[in-house]
Amino acid sequence: MCGIIAITTSSKINVSKMITDGLKKLEYRGYDSVGIATINNGKIQVLKDAGSIDTVNKRMSFEDLEGTIGIGHTRWATHGPPSKENAHPHSDCTGNIIVVHNGIIENYLHLKEALLNKGHQFSSETDSEVIVHLMEEELLKTGRKQSILEAFKQTIAQLEGTYAITLIHSTDPDTIFLARKDSPLVIGVREDIKFAASDIPAFLEYTKKVIVLRNGEIATLTPKAVYIEKNGFRIQPKPVVVSWTAESAQKSGYPHFMLKEIHEQPIALKNTLNINPDIMEKASNKVLKAGKIIFLACGTSYHAGLTGYHQFLRILQKKPLYKIIASEYETYSSLVDEDTLIIAVSQSGETLDVMKAVTHVRKLGASIVSLANVVDSSIPRLSQIPLYTKAGPEIGVAATKTHTAQVALLARLALQVEHDIGQINRTEFKEQLHSLIMDTPQIARTVINQNEFKAKRLASIIDNQQHAYFLARGLNYPIAQEGALKLKEISYIHAEAFPAGESKHGPIALVEPQFPVIMIAPNDRTAKKIQGNAEEMRARRAYVVSVTEKNHEIIKRSDYTFLIPKSSPLIRPISYVIPLQMLAYYTAVRRGFDPDKPKNLAKTVTVE
Ligand code: M6R
Repeated sequence: MCGIIAITTSSKINVSKMITDGLKKLEYRGYDSVGIATINNGKIQVLKDAGSIDTVNKRMSFEDLEGTIGIGHTRWATHGPPSKENAHPHSDCTGNIIVVHNGIIENYLHLKEALLNKGHQFSSETDSEVIVHLMEEELLKTGRKQSILEAFKQTIAQLEGTYAITLIHSTDPDTIFLARKDSPLVIGVREDIKFAASDIPAFLEYTKKVIVLRNGEIATLTPKAVYIEKNGFRIQPKPVVVSWTAESAQKSGYPHFMLKEIHEQPIALKNTLNINPDIMEKASNKVLKAGKIIFLACGTSYHAGLTGYHQFLRILQKKPLYKIIASEYETYSSLVDEDTLIIAVSQSGETLDVMKAVTHVRKLGASIVSLANVVDSSIPRLSQIPLYTKAGPEIGVAATKTHTAQVALLARLALQVEHDIGQINRTEFKEQLHSLIMDTPQIARTVINQNEFKAKRLASIIDNQQHAYFLARGLNYPIAQEGALKLKEISYIHAEAFPAGESKHGPIALVEPQFPVIMIAPNDRTAKKIQGNAEEMRARRAYVVSVTEKNHEIIKRSDYTFLIPKSSPLIRPISYVIPLQMLAYYTAVRRGFDPDKPKNLAKTVTVE
């Protein structure tokens, strides 16, 4: 949560405009307050306030700040409500040291008390402000004889919790100081300019050369150099070149990133499924060798993991399979041993709940295969086999294209496993693989083209409802869960998913005339029973919406239908979820909400 950007350059350009643009690209990480600081002729200037970047910038004109070094922050409040005082950057008592921080300083109350006793004046309720006062104290201790870097290291050593920190000091007006623990921080490298940011899109327009800062690393950036150390030892950074384009982080004429990303699914699926077969064989080998397998993830990625779990269940009937929401991992940690394979799914590769669980299972000797969208991010780095979805940057807070890409990658892995254990022969494998790779993007495109208008129309029918149910059975249940999460998180209609048969054990009590019930109803073994469940809902005069493949029995029991082309069980969890994404999007827009910035949510959750 929170977005950070810092820039230092030797060129005669003001960085404030670049910082403001970068903050706009990071706004999905938090948007309740915003601020920027630059150093100009040795003087620090800060502008900050509560509100979105556009509103605050209009009022304060960030771009007018001069200087070739600066830092910026967009906030998702943890300590202290959104206000000018609590907005970052924060400065020390002298106004010479400025910091922006993402994460939580767990021991801040204890540190603050000690600093208050020493006479420091605090101007915010945030945990982050202790960082600058500690730094001031460190420099005071030695009468400023020690270097700023030394004082920075001493400061960081006193912090407990999670942090991505960027700090500048007016007496060293070229240098940005960085530290990272459990909150993401990436460095962008160009000859005359260096960047640090919470995420790559913030500087993608200027460079594709990236260094991901690791936990425990301390770094300094000057216009010409990157210096990194860990535990006192210098680290030689190896930049990676990302394949994302600057265009992929723009709205490109769409009103929202979410809609753009929904439309990008065919290409995201095509790119993701175009994966090196060797890495699939290696991952499959891990699956075959494992005594048990645990799918581990949060939110939408968990729903992708659930689909993977169901695909594996169909193939590996005798192997113990589990699915764990990462934040609940501790309850189930006794399941993990050296014989366990963890399949960790995370778009960002930085979700703290997943990172903590993965770090722990590594200590227990488990193997890790991960799926992530951000190359070289923390979770893939902790894995023996990192698999990447090639969906391009996802800016909308609500995950769409990365979800279907995760489902596609897990389907690809399931197919490999099915072949490698001998359930299907080489010819069947080749046929199914060809269909998965060639048909999936095409089917996704058809679903979008044929259902977008329908989703918009249905949004106008359900937009005044307070609740909605999503019902499905078996492999289709994660589709219902994802549909409910999408609707809930961006349109704020209370939506829940249930296994369809479970609805009569309680949830049906709430159903009344016009209550929307969305049934996931492909022509599979669940079809007959789903028809019965649709009938039960109709009997209570619910508004029944079906997502189906020309199943007339279900269509005649429905008030509204999304038609999906016929496909295999590997592709269905992708094609069936797309109308639900579009329904959530258009419902949010009709209700007057910005789907890219749902309230209280942030794209990457770096707190527990
Ligand atoms: O980056 P991750 O995939 O690990 O993120 C997991 C969840 O935080 C994320 O999917 C969240 O549920 C989104 N709001 C879904 O739209």
